[in-house]
Amino acid sequence: MPPISRRSVLGGALGIPLGLPLLATPAIAQNAPLKIGLMLPFSGTFAALGESIAAAFDMHLKDESDPAKAPSNVNRLLGRERADALVGTVHSGVVMALVQAARDQEIPLIIPNAGNVAATRELCAPSVFRSSFSNWQPAYGMGKALAAKGIKKAAWVTWAYAAGKESGDGFGDGLRSGGAELTKVLTLPFPETNFQPLLAQLPGLGVDAVGAFFAGGGAIQFVKDYAAAGLRDKLPLCGSGFLTEGVLKPQGTAAEGLQTALHYGDGLDNPKNVAFRAAYKSFSNRDADVYAVQGYDAAQMLAIGLAATKGDRMATKEFAAAIQAATIDSPRGAFTVSASHNPVQTIWLREARNGENRVIGAAVEALADPGTGCKMT
Ligand code: PHB
Repeated sequence: MPPISRRSVLGGALGIPLGLPLLATPAIAQNAPLKIGLMLPFSGTFAALGESIAAAFDMHLKDESDPAKAPSNVNRLLGRERADALVGTVHSGVVMALVQAARDQEIPLIIPNAGNVAATRELCAPSVFRSSFSNWQPAYGMGKALAAKGIKKAAWVTWAYAAGKESGDGFGDGLRSGGAELTKVLTLPFPETNFQPLLAQLPGLGVDAVGAFFAGGGAIQFVKDYAAAGLRDKLPLCGSGFLTEGVLKPQGTAAEGLQTALHYGDGLDNPKNVAFRAAYKSFSNRDADVYAVQGYDAAQMLAIGLAATKGDRMATKEFAAAIQAATIDSPRGAFTVSASHNPVQTIWLREARNGENRVIGAAVEALADPGTGCKMT
């Protein structure tokens, strides 16, 4: 597999003025350079997530998580910038514009975060792959682990958008798989952080635990507010691992001891992960987190797919077949993709200790998203 050259990627990135979509030109085989359009958030509540993905992908792009701006950003990448493949994005609402364009124009798309289940269920497509997770997967693992501990009733607190709702569905399915129940879902609009009205309702719900999906800036605030409200001792808090991922430092002692479930964690002792963490730290001066892993794996998957096209922009069948057949050598542990193009992966149970999300066991091994309604055409 020809590697994507760092020099050519950086060259492409540096040539684009700040604020415009940035294009990389990976050197694949001997053919003319291909243009890869990246779309990631660099402002707003998911800014740090986008930064981790981009640092690992070796790229930079400016874009907020605003679904209203998504179609024009995608059109710019595919129109004026003439991208041959797309990589993006973080937010489940924003990614739909990319999925739509990839489907309509048969452009290869690798999703390095956004977990919107539709992308690998009813809107699955031959040229669309995810290097990340479906919203359902980590929350399913959390629900299952909670039920195994003997919790009988739990509530879910989240933002009212696709990622919040779909992770709540996963949490409920996981709880039910172990004989427990999801009895209440509380939401507030994305990306609001006035959690007090929701927190005030929790003690009266008659639940034994609370699960949550928040990420980035919102996760920092929620975990702090939950602790400050004195709820930690009364109602154990858990969640999809994004709740504490990449944000433990600003959360401080408020996060200590929180258990979450995710397809990555600190202390995963495989040689690929050890090497990746060291290389990423020296390259970006950041500590690796799940977002960096997903960005890195997006680049790996893209390289595998593009190598198989031998530079032919129309060879989407070859692109898809190569990734479908591959085992991705990921820092999270090697994985393959399911028939609907979503990673089949272990969901780890982690506990926040001294600034790390320490892996304490597997919540569920080799978990595939159900892929319901996916028909590859
Ligand atoms: C999403 O919108 O799909 C999303 C955003 C941030 C995360 C995870 C999922 O950390």
